[in-house]
Formats: sequence, structure tokens, C-alpha cells
Amino acid sequence: MKWGLTVKVDIKKSGLENVGTDVLVIFTSKRSPSKNAAVKKGATPAPKTGASVDGVSKAIQAKIQAGLDDSSISGSANEAVLFRDAQVGGARHLLTVGLGDAKSMTHETLRQASAAMVNALKSAKVRSISLALDTLPANRLDADLTVQALTEGALLAEYKFTDYLEVPKEAPVKIETLSIISATKAKGHERGVETGTMVAECVNFARWLGDRPGNRMTPTILAEETQKAAKTSKLKVTVWDKAKIKAEKMGSFLSVSNGSAQEPKFIIMEYNGAASSKRPLCLVGKGLTFDCGGISIKPAAGMEEMKYDMCGGAAVIASMLAIARLKLKVNAIAFVPATENLAGPAATKPGDIVIARNGKSIEVNNTDAEGRLILADALVYACEQKPAMILDTATLTGAMVVALGNTHTGYFTRDNNLSDMIEEASAESGEWMWRMPLTDYHAKDMKGTYADLSNISSSKGAGSATAAAFLEQFVDKDIPWAHFDIAGTAWHCGNRLNYCPSKGATGVLVRTFLAMAEAHA
Ligand code: BES
Ligand code: ZN
Ligand code: ZN
Repeated sequence: MKWGLTVKVDIKKSGLENVGTDVLVIFTSKRSPSKNAAVKKGATPAPKTGASVDGVSKAIQAKIQAGLDDSSISGSANEAVLFRDAQVGGARHLLTVGLGDAKSMTHETLRQASAAMVNALKSAKVRSISLALDTLPANRLDADLTVQALTEGALLAEYKFTDYLEVPKEAPVKIETLSIISATKAKGHERGVETGTMVAECVNFARWLGDRPGNRMTPTILAEETQKAAKTSKLKVTVWDKAKIKAEKMGSFLSVSNGSAQEPKFIIMEYNGAASSKRPLCLVGKGLTFDCGGISIKPAAGMEEMKYDMCGGAAVIASMLAIARLKLKVNAIAFVPATENLAGPAATKPGDIVIARNGKSIEVNNTDAEGRLILADALVYACEQKPAMILDTATLTGAMVVALGNTHTGYFTRDNNLSDMIEEASAESGEWMWRMPLTDYHAKDMKGTYADLSNISSSKGAGSATAAAFLEQFVDKDIPWAHFDIAGTAWHCGNRLNYCPSKGATGVLVRTFLAMAEAHA
């Protein structure tokens, strides 16, 4: 498993004196406007804004006082102010990191604050950081999750895809250790670091799979990397080759691979953490390692981004790794149909009719709507496992990007209980979700003329919902199912999230799927 991290996070029992570190990091937050401010006639009004700082020594307070006085430290979220050579508390430099309004602080606030810290220090030529936990404003957040979120934010922010860049001759000074320091060492703190490190590694692994170009992340390579990564955990990985996929009557999946010289693979990951009587959680992810659109070819501009078309598969693979490494008390199975969608001589042609594993016939009226074709067979197979629920994810439609951009993942389900569960998991993971409509009308639009179904809608608009309605045709009605379209959130998150590279894979959904698996346990 490779992701290029160098930072090691640990937890240390320490006050704010003699920390012996390159940088001491303290939190600031926005001062809440005082209710009693300036009520007395003639009294000097108390400042309504400005930063508050908790739990620091007089020496530290003195160092930052000027910054507080002139409001260059405001305490706003993700504000990072570096005092170089502050020489305070046994640290060379001092960094303040803002949390915004302390009252509305969540674990996501902390994840982002920690990322802001790493981002501010990336070019500061420091090796060690001490982050003062005791300077967090008093809050009701869970201690384990607090440390976990801080760990995740730092390690997620550190990820960079550098596999094909020249290694600099002289190694630059890099952040090597991040010590989360606290005067009182709570039991859960160690666990928070361990879990946070593990989660960040898995998310970064998903990113790394996504960031590899199509020629270096073929279906075969994706399967091999999955097998390699799973080695140190209790995961069983099975990979089906083309002959097996054919024998298993996955005609819809197979039809997408026809135009490619690369063999398709069907990746299966199984984890048994609960009694065998417990129904498994099934995850399904689109593993399209490169999508040129096939015969219905895409325009050249931006086509290179279609190397990210396997991010759904990557999210599912990384979620399974996380579930297994955390030894969750669940049974979980993942399916990743992996293939290229190219326009070689044997490629599927518009109008071709293919038969899915459940016997339904599909007119392929646009070969670029291939994600649904590969997911169809995977969903049928997932249903055969008698799962407790199925969650699938895919970079499925450009329409999703139009609808929600890169802020929210759109999800589709008709199951309100499952939707509640998704919303809770999303609140925990900090990954924004938006429930999208899925109705019988959308399903009607997907009927074929010469076959049971068409792979494109007969109506205009609602392209993400009609795609979801197509997928629904391959899921048994009594199985709770949700589909997550990550076309807009899986890569290039721009300025949206400071712990994601602005360009490149984001690893979205790993944390939400993990939270869902935890809720299912
Ligand atoms: N992989 C694309 C979806 C996509 C587009 C993801 C842009 C991210 C950014 C998918 O296979 C596709 O091409 N879908 C078509 C479907 C259409 C032909 C019905 C689309 O969205 O244009
Ligand atoms: Zn496509
Ligand atoms: Zn695609």
C-alpha cells in the first residue's frame, strides 16, 4: 500500500513548557459577542469580535498579544498565523490556528484546522510539530474522535501524488512528527491517533489509486494493488478474469470491455467480523480505469480526467481495508467491476443489445453511459449475497457535476431509514451529502424500444436520477439500497476542502462508508 506519507503522529503527555519542538501550535477561536457588552452607560464597549485563546501560559499570551490587539489573529476558521523564532514554551516557532466560533465546533472543524496547520507549515522547513490539545476551547466533543479528526486532517493534508516526479537530490526539510500534546493523557487519545492514522492511510490509498494514470492503473493493476493492500488484514480477495466473468453471465459488464485490449477484472473483497448469520453490508464501486466514451467518444478536452472514473471502486476498496483494519464487528463484501471503456475494433456499438446477469436486455444507445452497465451486473451479484443493505458508488454522470458541483455527493435511495443513516454518517465524516429524487417516472424514462431497458434516458434532463433509476432495475426491491454519484466530488475539489489536493483524487466516501459500517456493527 503506497501513498507517500512521511508524518508520524503520536500523543505525548506534556504541558506547554519545554515541549522541545520546532513549532508549538495553539488553537484560537472567535470570541462570542458578549451579551452584557456596553450595557452600562458610559462604559467602554467590549470588543464584539476578536480571538480568544484558552489555556496558554503568560509567555505565550505575551507573544501573541500584539496579534490579538491588532486583529491579525481573529480566530476565524483555518486562519494560521506563524510567529517565526518566537522561542516560547521550548519551541522555536509558534503557530496559531483558528477554529471559528467555538460553539459550533465539530470534528470536521478540527479536521480542517489540523489541515490548515500542516498547509501553513509545509514550506516552513520544520521537522517536528507539537499541537497543544489543551488549548481547545471547552466543548462537548468526544475525546477519541477529537484526536482522530486532528490526526486525519494532518495526514490527509500531507498527501501529494508524486510517483512520477523527479526526486530532488537534496531532501527538503519535511514534517516528520506531529505530537498531540496534553497535560492529561486520556485513554482514548492513543486510540484516536491509531484510528485517525489508519483512516487517513486508507483515504490516501483511495486517492493514490485514483491519481495513477490509466496506463498505470489498469483493471489488472487495480486488482493486484487491492490484493497487495489486503495482505496485512483479514480480508479475502478474489479476482475473476474475463472467462469467469463470461461464465457468470455478466454480459452487460463484459460489453463495456469489448473495445479494450486490457482484460476486465471483477474484484471481490470479503470481510467476516461478525457471526456468519449476520447479513453482510455490500459495497459496489465503479472501477472504470479509463473512460474515453467508447464509440460514442468523448471530446478531447478534459478527457484525461477520465482516469478518475474508477474512484468509486477505489472508495469501496479503501473502505473495506479500513473496515478490516479497524476489525469492525460486521460482515462486509465489496464488488468492483473493473474495465476500460475504449473504442477498439470489437467495441460495443450504439444500438447493440446486451443481456445482464438477471436476464434483462439492454439497448446500448450511448456507449459513454457505461458505468451503469458494469454496475448492473455487480448489483445483481450483490443481491444474491442476501445483504443487509447495498451501497454503490460511481463517478456516474456529468449531470451530477452540473447539479451539485464539488461540494456535495448526490445520493439516491427510496428507503427513508437508510437515508437517515446516511445523513448521520455524513455528519460524522464531514463529507457533505445531498439526497436526490428517484421516482417511477425516472424509471419509465429508461425503458428500451427493442430491449427491456435503454442505457440512456428517453427524456431530457435529470440525467443522474435516470441513471440511478436504471441501476435500481438490478436491485431486489426488498433490499435497502443507496446509490452515491461522486462524479463531482471524487476529484479536483478546488478550494472546497483544505485537506484535499485542489487537483487530484479526494478519496471521498471512504469515511462515510466507514461510519455506515460502524453504525451497522
Ligand atoms: N464517467 C462518466 C461520467 C462523468 C462525467 C464523471 C464527467 C465525471 C465527470 C460517465 O461514464 C459518462 O460518460 N456518462 C455520460 C452519460 C450520458 C451519455 C447519458 C454523461 O454523464 O455524459
Ligand atoms: Zn462514460
Ligand atoms: Zn464513466
